[in-house]
Amino acid sequence: MKFSRMAREVQPSATIKISTKVKNMRAEGIDIIGFGMGEPDFTTPDNIREAGVKAIWDGLTKYTPTSGTMELKEAICDKLLKDNGLKYSPGQIMTSCGAKQSVCNVILALCDKGDEVIIPSPYWVSYSEQTIMAGAKPVLLHATDDADFRITLKQFENAINDNTKLMILNSPCNPTGSVYSEAELREIVGCAVKNNIYVISDEIYENILYDGAKHCSPAGFGDEFLDKVITVNGFSKSFAMTGWRLGYAAGNKEIISEAIKLQDHFTSGTSSITQAAGIEALKGKQDFIKDMVAEFDKRRRFLIDKLNSLDGVSCVMPKGAFYAFPNISGLFGRSIAGETVNDSDGLVNLLIEKARVAFVPGKSFGSDDHLRISYATSMDNIKEGMARLEALLAG
Ligand SMILES: Cc1ncc(COP(=O)(O)O)c(C=O)c1O
Repeated sequence: MKFSRMAREVQPSATIKISTKVKNMRAEGIDIIGFGMGEPDFTTPDNIREAGVKAIWDGLTKYTPTSGTMELKEAICDKLLKDNGLKYSPGQIMTSCGAKQSVCNVILALCDKGDEVIIPSPYWVSYSEQTIMAGAKPVLLHATDDADFRITLKQFENAINDNTKLMILNSPCNPTGSVYSEAELREIVGCAVKNNIYVISDEIYENILYDGAKHCSPAGFGDEFLDKVITVNGFSKSFAMTGWRLGYAAGNKEIISEAIKLQDHFTSGTSSITQAAGIEALKGKQDFIKDMVAEFDKRRRFLIDKLNSLDGVSCVMPKGAFYAFPNISGLFGRSIAGETVNDSDGLVNLLIEKARVAFVPGKSFGSDDHLRISYATSMDNIKEGMARLEALLAG
C-alpha cells in the first residue's frame, strides 16, 4: 500500500515506542524498570482534580471555542504576566490538547515546503517530525556535552539562510536538562528577530529548575520579540496533568488565529472538563510544584552521581526538567554480557534484554552517543535500575 508523503517521512516517537514495550513486557509478567516516559510520577493535585469533577457535575460538558474558554485564556494571560512578565490579551492565546499540539499548530501555520526550521540538538523528538509534517526541513545544530548542550550564537548565525523561517528553543531542555541564561537568549533570539525568523519558545519545564537556575521568557525582551516569539507552555509537567491534555501558545495575533484555524479542523478545543481544571491549576495554590521539584532534585543528585561512577559513562549535571542524558560512547566496542555494542539503540536493547531496564536511545534525540533517562520515577526504581545497570556493566 502506498501511504502519504507525511506518513512515509515521519518517524515513530521513540519515547512512546519504549514505554509501550515496557508496558507489554510487564503485562507478560516480566519485571522491567522503565525510565522512558517523560511523565511526573505524581498524581494531579487534589484541588485540580476536584475542579474537574465539579465541572462534570456543573454540566460543563459541551464544545468550547476552539482556542479555549475565555476564563481559561484570561487565567493564562494573568499567569504569563505574573510569572513571565509577558503582556498578552486573550485573543493572542490558543489552548490545545497538550503543548505538543500547540507546537504543531504553530509549525503548520508558519512553515511550508522549502522552509528551514533550526532546532538545537539534542532536541525533543516531536520538533523534527512536526517540521517534516509541514513539508519543511529540520536543520539540527549540534551542542556537545562540553558546551553543556547549549548552542552558541555563532552556530546559529552560521545556520541562517534565506529559507530559515523558524527556530525552536526549549529551555529547560528535554532531553538534556540544559538551561540557557538570559544573556544567551538575548543574543540568540535577538539574532533571530533581527533576521526576521520566528521563534517557538517551548517553556513547558519552566518550573522544574535546580541549583538556582533561572528561567527566562525571550518574548519579554521587547516589542519586536513579543511579535516574533511564540511562547508555548502546558500543564502536563508543572501540575502532573499529562493525561488531561492541556497546553497553550501565546503570540502574535495573526499567527495564533491561523494556528487556531488549523486546530478547528483537527480536534476543535480540548476537553471542557480539562479546561475547568486548568483554571484551578493556574489560580489555586502552587505549593505542589515546589514539593515535586524537591523530590526530583534528590533523585537527580543520586542518579547523576551514580552514572558518573560507572566506567565508560559520563553525565552532565542537568539544571532543569527531569531527564539525565549520559554519554555512553565510552562503552562502545566493549564486550558487555558477551555482546559488543556500538550505538545507543544497541545498548538500549541489550539493557532491556539482559538487565531489564529500559532507557531511550539518544539517537532519536539527535545523539547516538547518549541515552535519555527520565527520573520521573520513584527513588526505589532509580536505585534498583542503577544497580541492574551497574551489575551488567561490571559483567
Ligand atoms: C519539550 C516538550 N515540549 C512539549 C511536550 C508536550 O507536552 P504535552 O503535550 O503533554 O503538553 C513535551 C512532553 O514530553 C516536552 O518534553
